[in-house]
Amino acid sequence: MVLRTLAMPKDTNPWGDVFGGWLLAQMDIAAGLMAGEVAQGRAATISVQNVVFHSPVAVGHTICIYAELIRVGRSSMEIALEVWARDVVHVYEPERAFVAEAIFHYVAIDPQGRPRAVPDDARSLAREADASGAPRAADRPAREPLPSA
Ligand SMILES: CC(C)(COP(=O)(O)OP(=O)(O)OC[C@H]1O[C@@H](n2cnc3c(N)ncnc32)[C@H](O)[C@@H]1OP(=O)(O)O)[C@@H](O)C(=O)NCCC(=O)NCCS
Repeated sequence: MVLRTLAMPKDTNPWGDVFGGWLLAQMDIAAGLMAGEVAQGRAATISVQNVVFHSPVAVGHTICIYAELIRVGRSSMEIALEVWARDVVHVYEPERAFVAEAIFHYVAIDPQGRPRAVPDDARSLAREADASGAPRAADRPAREPLPSA
């Protein structure tokens, strides 16, 4: 888990529903934390793919964001995120619900904002995850297969 936070009233639209954009911002912060650690310094989001909001988030839900380093290129990093939520404010829900996922791409950048090589030892982190087949976020809840369309 790289980030845990709480959905607040300020994060909602006029109907009281939490903005997808708020959740996406939390996901960018979470992926950015991992990218910064892997790159051992400054990194920038270059693209976001496969964003899916599976179920709504409400005020009072805690949000847990799990990240997995999928691939490290010369300067780029591919990070898969899963977001899980549960109510701890209104009705205590012991089970977490899978609410969103996305793939973030980051690029390690130098002080001038130009791409720089990710340090060599970071590559092994992605290789270890690939080789074991085990996500680095091993403490996340087991996910039921999503219903097909
Ligand atoms: C990130 C940035 C410095 C990269 O510069 P660039 O000249 O486009 O970089 P390059 O073409 O040399 O590509 C750098 C890496 O990004 C990868 N890349 C390029 N476009 C990509 C895309 N659309 N999706 C994923 N990866 C991409 C390249 O494959 C390359 O990876 P590698 O070094 O591991 O092989 C530049 O695009 C930038 O500053 N973008 C804005 C970032 C930003 O401000 N984000 C926050 C928005 S508020």
